[in-house]
Amino acid sequence: MTVKIKIKRNGCFEEYDVPENITVLDALNYINKTYNKNIQFRASCRAGQCGSCAMTINNEPKLACKTKVKDGMKIEPLEGFNVIKDLIVDRSPYYKKLHNLRNYLQQNVDEEEKITPNDIKDLKSIRGCIDCLSCLSKCPARKFSEYPGPTLIRQLARFAYDPRDEGNREEEAYFENIYNCTTCGKCVEVCPKEIDIVHNAVEKFRAQLFKKGLYLKNHLIVRENVLKGNRSVVKEDTPLLEDESVKDEYIVENEKMRVAFFTGCLVDYRLQDVGKSAIRVLNAHGVSVIIPKNQICCGSPFLRTGQKDVADKLKKHNLEIFNNLDVDAVVTICAGCGSTLKNDYCEKEFKVMDITEVLNAVGLMEYSPLDVKITYHDPCHLRRGQKIYIEPRNILKNIPNLEFIEMEIPDQCCGAGGGVRSGKPEVSSAIGKRKAKMVYDTDADYVITVCPFCEYHIRDSLTKFKEENDLKKDIKVMNIVSLLDKVITDNKKNKIKIK
Ligand code: FES
Repeated sequence: MTVKIKIKRNGCFEEYDVPENITVLDALNYINKTYNKNIQFRASCRAGQCGSCAMTINNEPKLACKTKVKDGMKIEPLEGFNVIKDLIVDRSPYYKKLHNLRNYLQQNVDEEEKITPNDIKDLKSIRGCIDCLSCLSKCPARKFSEYPGPTLIRQLARFAYDPRDEGNREEEAYFENIYNCTTCGKCVEVCPKEIDIVHNAVEKFRAQLFKKGLYLKNHLIVRENVLKGNRSVVKEDTPLLEDESVKDEYIVENEKMRVAFFTGCLVDYRLQDVGKSAIRVLNAHGVSVIIPKNQICCGSPFLRTGQKDVADKLKKHNLEIFNNLDVDAVVTICAGCGSTLKNDYCEKEFKVMDITEVLNAVGLMEYSPLDVKITYHDPCHLRRGQKIYIEPRNILKNIPNLEFIEMEIPDQCCGAGGGVRSGKPEVSSAIGKRKAKMVYDTDADYVITVCPFCEYHIRDSLTKFKEENDLKKDIKVMNIVSLLDKVITDNKKNKIKIK
């Protein structure tokens, strides 16, 4: 049995039949031998150890020696680098940068310091890199700004946390624009060695930098907001949790699940209607909702920007509230809050679920038809932070008449995360522009997402893109709960009177 694969050469795809169940690397050798072709590619160890065979396979960076061929597979040179020939890319800018960063121990040779394995145990998690450059190929901050990319920051971290190194690696990371990283986690997702550069290098560096006073001015404003009002943004209208029309609990008959609603800062202070929709939607699906009114910011903006001191206080407060509730789960409608509660609240005694998980778990309703064209943006902290991407699509595809169109790269970061929207607006806006183009290319009426930060940022990016390109069409951005609120079939019967 054979499969057909396509290989990009000189800008065009060539199609070949190759035996099924072999690796891409074996397929390339097979094509050269069987069809007398001379496709150029790099490879050495054939065992996932040298990193030289990385290429873009079905739009994602992969090792050719570790990836099996599939029918219709598209094989291209590694994205983000200039092509030398066929599948060989120019790695020299990476090596040059590495050289500039002095990737060797800076040490006084007269005072050679002896270390024990224990001294460098923290380095273990970031030392397994095989230089495949997959992380560089997909990093949005590298693509749209002066940021060297994940593995170079990892290299700096490798020396920063080695007690023998006397270089000022933290300062170097600061001047190499470490605050441009949106912490989208794409580098972690594509790394064949599963190195968590975001947590073990970027966020670790930022925590050290904050202590040394090397932070971004705007991150301090967010800090002041939370220190004054327990929210990362300032109060404008009546917050959801202070609205007298919002009760402490909404209990339904024949309850399928009981959840506590974790609103997050933006839903409480800016997007109160989204919060009210969430309550109605949950109730309509047979889910009772408890609303602890004294909850505060989850701490995500502070964890991502190195302000662990504040994040720890916020976490302690929220844990005291949510650990003592008798509910099946704590539900979030913000990807960032959900990811933080799931991954950073290690002491929690409750289960955390994104609202799309809850709705799929209790069973979707029959929705009323909606004649719209929509596309969906995967928030990084939902797609990679919580591995949720099927659930929202399942909901959307259950709405009759709704036309669902995937954008080119639905899970590409919109540019809002990691403190970049507040700290480096020009970087955030450059990344957002690419997302806006993808959205406009779908010609959708709405972009749906499950993250208020993405919602705000994509809205701004679409407005700018529309103006810059003199477009007529307005594309609206909406949280999935706002859309569901429109299509709940027995909406009238279940309508909760929240003004
Ligand atoms: Fe070495 Fe694939 S050939 S990693």
